[in-house]
Amino acid sequence: MRSYATSLLLFGLLAPSRAATVAHDLREEIAARDCCQTLQSQLGPTAVLFPGSAGFQQLVNSYYSAQESEIISQCRVSAHSAQDVSDAIKIITKGGCKFSVRSAGHMTWAGAANIQAPGVAIDLKQMNGVNVSADKKVVSLGPGGSWGPVYDALDPFNITVVGGRSNTVGVGGFILGGGFSNLSPAHGFASDNVVNYEVVLADGRIVNANKTSNPDLFHGLKGGSTNLGIITRYDVNAFPLTPKWGGSRGYNVSQGPAIFDAMIKFIKKLPQEPLGGGSVVWGYSEDLKNDTIFGSFAYLGADATESKAQLFSEMLDVPPTFDTIRTNTDQQWLDSEVDVAFPGGLRRIFSTLTLKVDREIAEGIYRKSHDAFAGLVGKPGVSWTASFQPISITHLQATERAGGTPQGLSPKDGDLILLNLNTVWVEESDDAAMQAAVRDVINWGTKEAKRRNVLHPWLYINYALPDQKVYESYGKANVDALLKIKNKFDPKNTFGKLWKGGFKL
Ligand SMILES: Cc1cc2nc3c(=O)[nH]c(=O)nc-3n(C[C@H](O)[C@H](O)[C@H](O)COP(=O)(O)OP(=O)(O)OC[C@H]3O[C@@H](n4cnc5c(N)ncnc54)[C@H](O)[C@@H]3O)c2cc1C
Ligand SMILES: *[C@@H]1O[C@H](CO)[C@@H](O)[C@H](O)[C@H]1NC(C)=O
Ligand SMILES: *[C@@H]1O[C@H](CO)[C@@H](O)[C@H](O)[C@H]1NC(C)=O
Ligand SMILES: *[C@@H]1O[C@H](CO)[C@@H](O)[C@H](O)[C@H]1NC(C)=O
Ligand SMILES: *[C@@H]1O[C@H](CO)[C@@H](O)[C@H](O)[C@H]1NC(C)=O
Ligand SMILES: *[C@@H]1O[C@H](CO)[C@@H](O)[C@H](O)[C@H]1NC(C)=O
Repeated sequence: MRSYATSLLLFGLLAPSRAATVAHDLREEIAARDCCQTLQSQLGPTAVLFPGSAGFQQLVNSYYSAQESEIISQCRVSAHSAQDVSDAIKIITKGGCKFSVRSAGHMTWAGAANIQAPGVAIDLKQMNGVNVSADKKVVSLGPGGSWGPVYDALDPFNITVVGGRSNTVGVGGFILGGGFSNLSPAHGFASDNVVNYEVVLADGRIVNANKTSNPDLFHGLKGGSTNLGIITRYDVNAFPLTPKWGGSRGYNVSQGPAIFDAMIKFIKKLPQEPLGGGSVVWGYSEDLKNDTIFGSFAYLGADATESKAQLFSEMLDVPPTFDTIRTNTDQQWLDSEVDVAFPGGLRRIFSTLTLKVDREIAEGIYRKSHDAFAGLVGKPGVSWTASFQPISITHLQATERAGGTPQGLSPKDGDLILLNLNTVWVEESDDAAMQAAVRDVINWGTKEAKRRNVLHPWLYINYALPDQKVYESYGKANVDALLKIKNKFDPKNTFGKLWKGGFKL
């Protein structure tokens, strides 16, 4: 094979630079075959899967977005333990093979957690354990689990954790990027509630990172993405399980300004009682073939009669077109509404901005999105939603209490609104136009928010486009601190060179 490029060069069929690329690709291909063979002989045939096998395809199909499921790696390591991950990292880095890591595969963009051959995919989906400590204060989570099964496993113990608002979303990527939960106004990010990370470093060592052991790495992993290590276990704080009140309400789009004014009043009231969560989603509904708004509501108390008056009163005053709110429900039911509204298996991209609390910019972003997607709506499966999620000052206070974050957020920032522009479509031929429309909205939103003085620089890694400048948004001091940690734990920049996907320092 290696001589193929050489002979093409000899026969003058390739320009030298092209021949060099082909030779390079061939070297990578040969290295990847070696990596996969060695992985298989050392980890065993069931732990290393190849394209064409049912096991391989099943794991590939379980990515959330169609773009991620279309990527076919050289082979896929289905790890079952930290030791498997450590062995795999030693083999892969020795062979100089490129690789990616996926937990549950819900990051949407192509290549976030998957890699095209000759790359090797490390798949943690089978590492989905849930263990509760004897005193029920700490829960150990495998990275490959999903939040629905995690909540199911914790229910019998009458405890819960700061986890996702979707049953299918993954433990690993969610906590690594921060993690917004219905418990966040009271307890901060999911990552604020990690007490210990078990992590595989670039040299294959398995270490703990916590407040007393590797405290710098512990801090860095709260913004580490694919730079510092592969997390093989998260030990997180447990909280008492409480029945919930919540659900969603649809609104006529003409109620947009009213529901936003109400949401702003709700955010301002959260510091008195940070038990409520929710978001307002303004976008295009395929069912209605029209624009629509819905709000999601969650309150950590069964009845919430008192709090309705206190917290949600203005939002509940706006007349709905539908209403699924119920008392005495649970997180899994609230999540199921999200999973029905945002099903997997389709082409999707998320994108994000962070805004000061300002109704005009929210409405502006909705109107801009309406125009930007106008020419696409009606094409197969095309739909878009701009979801506006409050980041309460009480959340940022909880983050600070937990030791702060390298992501550059502080209670001084005041209440904020997180935008997730979520787009969905079916045909590959619409990729370019959908992506262009997303960029148009994000560019406009950035410019307009700046002009109104309501832009907050922070970009949420779990919602960002691959080329949004997430690390720049953390601020120079944080990036310098993260680079220092990276240089200490990966002095040869092995992860920088070989680990693809996520966001790179
Ligand atoms: C339907 C839906 C609902 C969502 N709801 C919420 C929500 O309520 N709140 C919220 O904050 N976000 C939410 N998200 C966003 C979510 O947090 C991200 O998609 C997150 O990355 C998903 O984690 P995962 O394990 O499934 O991701 P993956 O795609 O597996 O991984 C994401 C990134 O992290 C890296 N990574 C994964 N695992 C590890 C590991 N163990 N060690 C090192 N690197 C790793 C991957 O390489 C990749 O770059 C939602 C997304 C979807 C699709
Ligand atoms: C849970 O405990 C079992 C048995 O001790 C162990 O094998 C597994 O790795 C643990 N998983 C997690 C996520 O802690
Ligand atoms: C579960 O925890 C809640 C909140 O602490 C408590 O009110 C309830 O009695 C507990 N239920 C059981 C079955 O232990
Ligand atoms: C922190 O890491 C050390 C070293 O591995 C370990 O002994 C200790 O139990 C860890 N602490 C927590 C809170 O997990
Ligand atoms: C929404 O409100 C507008 C203005 O009040 C009204 O004309 C329209 O019929 C309403 N649409 C629906 C679907 O109720
Ligand atoms: C969409 O909604 C607007 C505003 O309520 C209304 O005027 C229009 O007729 C609706 N279009 C369709 C196709 O229902």
